[in-house]
Amino acid sequence: MGYMMTSYENIVILTGAGISKESGLNTFRDNGGLWETHRVEEVATPEAFARDPALVHRFYNMRRQNLQTVEPNPAHDALALLEAEHKGNVIIVTQNVDNLHERAGSKNIIHMHGELLKVRCRACAMVMVTENDISDEMPCPACGFAPALRPHIVWFGEMPFQMDDIEEALLKADLFISIGTSGNVYPAAGFVQMMRQIGRGHTVEINMEPSEGVSYFHEVHHGPAGTLVPQYVDRLLKADYKA
Ligand code: OAD
Repeated sequence: MGYMMTSYENIVILTGAGISKESGLNTFRDNGGLWETHRVEEVATPEAFARDPALVHRFYNMRRQNLQTVEPNPAHDALALLEAEHKGNVIIVTQNVDNLHERAGSKNIIHMHGELLKVRCRACAMVMVTENDISDEMPCPACGFAPALRPHIVWFGEMPFQMDDIEEALLKADLFISIGTSGNVYPAAGFVQMMRQIGRGHTVEINMEPSEGVSYFHEVHHGPAGTLVPQYVDRLLKADYKA
């Protein structure tokens, strides 16, 4: 701590798997993380899906089902409170495919890596919401094509969603907070560097440990998001109150 708190006009918050860890969802790169138990190339690439769609569907079906067993934690709750109470704008850009930000009450969210609860037709591109298991035999409810459905997830080698909207938000941001992300996966890992190039926003990292990009941040707090994020939001809202 020890930084002067000011009231910010446009806050952009980048979140990663670490923010959902205390809800009981695995991260990707920590001990016991998803990429320790599943090889990325087997489940999270277009090539993997072409080779073995059943395996890829099973992986995402499992994660979709698992979502129903977890709840938002105090870090998600604090960000929803910030959006509701802050005088300026708050946008969450999440790499997470879970729905814990929504369930905590956040509204202004970009899911740059897609969403577990959505599937997309490979033929007509229709995006559908589902809580159910998906198999490769299912025809698309919209166009009838089969095999049709794939997870609405951005796989390695694919372009993240809404990059234009994200860039626009970063260009306007006077505060950028990165929470629970290891800084390994681009373009998200490069957002803090973009902020430094733009040169006008304050940049903050909240993560269990220093991320790959830690040296780019003006301010860093290392520890569990469930404790540190509510504290940080409290300081932001107090600064609003004084402004
Ligand atoms: P990672 O698993 O790479 O990083 C999670 C970070 O969260 C690590 O730096 C942990 O130290 C930190 N962490 C763990 N528990 C925490 C806690 N309780 N509080 C705060 N921090 C904690 O996950 P991401 O950076 O989100 O992409 O990974 C980025 C992308 O790589 C994912 O979106 C996914 C993956 O491959 C796709 O699937 C496209």
